[in-house]
Amino acid sequence: MFDFRCSAGKMSEQQRFCHHHLLLSPLLLPFLSFSLFLAAAAEIHHQNPPPAITRFQQYLQISSAHPTPDYTSAINFLTSFSNSIPSLQSQILYFTPEKDKPLLLLTWPGSDPTLPSVLLNSHLDSVPADPSKWVHPPFSAYHSSDGKIFARGAQDDKCIGIQYLEAIKRLIEEKNFSPLRTVHISFVPDEEIGGFDGMAKFVKSEEFKALNLGFVLDEGQASPGDEYRVFYADRQPWHIVIKAVGMPGHGSRMFDNSAMENLMKSVEVITKFRDAEFDKVKAGLAANSEVISANPVFLKAGIPSPTGFVMNVQPSEAEAGFDLRLPPTADPDAVRRRIAEEWAPSWRNMSFEITEKGPLRDHKGRPLLTPTNDSNSWWSVFKQAVTSAGGKLAKPEILPSTTDARFMRQLGIPTIGFSPMRNTPILLHDHNEFLKDSVYLEGIKVYESVIKSLSSFADSS
Ligand SMILES: *[C@@H]1O[C@H](CO)[C@@H](O)[C@H](O)[C@H]1NC(C)=O
Ligand SMILES: *[C@@H]1O[C@H](CO)[C@@H](O)[C@H](O)[C@H]1NC(C)=O
Ligand SMILES: [Zn+2]
Repeated sequence: MFDFRCSAGKMSEQQRFCHHHLLLSPLLLPFLSFSLFLAAAAEIHHQNPPPAITRFQQYLQISSAHPTPDYTSAINFLTSFSNSIPSLQSQILYFTPEKDKPLLLLTWPGSDPTLPSVLLNSHLDSVPADPSKWVHPPFSAYHSSDGKIFARGAQDDKCIGIQYLEAIKRLIEEKNFSPLRTVHISFVPDEEIGGFDGMAKFVKSEEFKALNLGFVLDEGQASPGDEYRVFYADRQPWHIVIKAVGMPGHGSRMFDNSAMENLMKSVEVITKFRDAEFDKVKAGLAANSEVISANPVFLKAGIPSPTGFVMNVQPSEAEAGFDLRLPPTADPDAVRRRIAEEWAPSWRNMSFEITEKGPLRDHKGRPLLTPTNDSNSWWSVFKQAVTSAGGKLAKPEILPSTTDARFMRQLGIPTIGFSPMRNTPILLHDHNEFLKDSVYLEGIKVYESVIKSLSSFADSS
């Protein structure tokens, strides 16, 4: 074992590891051999990985990072894998005139096509990765001796896209299973830049309507603990800019209602609001994503001079920007009123601009969330399926950021965010993003159970 590792072809982490060992005191050697033995025993898949791991690595090796995600290679890879799975049909959809943003839609027909279908969604793209900050190149899919597979997208969210397919492959080829409901699998472009040319356009299309969806699974997040995390809503970002105007004046004069004074009064009010929300989190009364966050992001005032700012003039204008995140339980009208009356009141000579980056209500005016209780029978089926695969779900959460799930929830389609990665540090968008091989393979088993149950689910309106 030891020799084999040390003779590995190129200079690898293991090799450095081995060289390092040669320098160690002979007194430590018995202990070291024992720990190496243990490490090797845990290393089930590393030297001779199963095809599912190899395919995961191949998908990860496609450069999917913005600003130039290689959609063509991703679609080619996924299409050729899905062609190898009997009964999967595929089509590529485009929603931009340039046809540069393909969306791959796979379909596994159910025996009763009149029943609402199930959609398994993931995105093709990733956020950028700076190779200089990574131990292994971000698109190498390097498989370390302790089972970690390093790649941008390993957690967010190429893992789930290919796990869906592996699970379906096994259900067909090993379990001879055929679904009652039709199952669709979508691979969408541009999620990481807002989804505007991807899922946002797809949900408005005739092709989407024709899917007649009953339930959607989309991406979630890793869980450092033993329970799988599950998400029933997103928070919606609002960008707020408040602006104060007032009499300009000499820096030496004391007078009321300058632009700076008025802006700072508002900043004080907003800070109090922020503290009150944050106190609920600190007191354990709410999770971070269940309160309204309000964070200052810019201040703009002063008269520039060659050396910085003119110091003896009180300016006539001042601005501040805030990033707000609203959970679906927040009342958007109440927040708008608060901004108009308390944060930027016109009587204080203030004005404001709100840019709402997404809706908080669905097409019927209901809060944008998927119920995770008995009122939603899809939820019960999903939860039961995870349990019977040996998993346990944590208390459902609101995702602190946004995903494409919001587009389906807006149409009133129950959508759960779920990426089966437990005992895994949360590394999405981080340097050295990785997923352990054993966690990846366990996820396939979870999806086998989940896809089987959801697609067999007979009784729903
Ligand atoms: C608002 O502006 C008007 C006109 O410049 C001024 O008379 C008034 O004092 C200002 N009020 C406040 C509260 O800033
Ligand atoms: C289920 O959850 C929804 C959404 O949170 C809530 O409005 C509803 O009252 C709950 N129903 C039951 C039966 O608990
Ligand atoms: Zn993602």
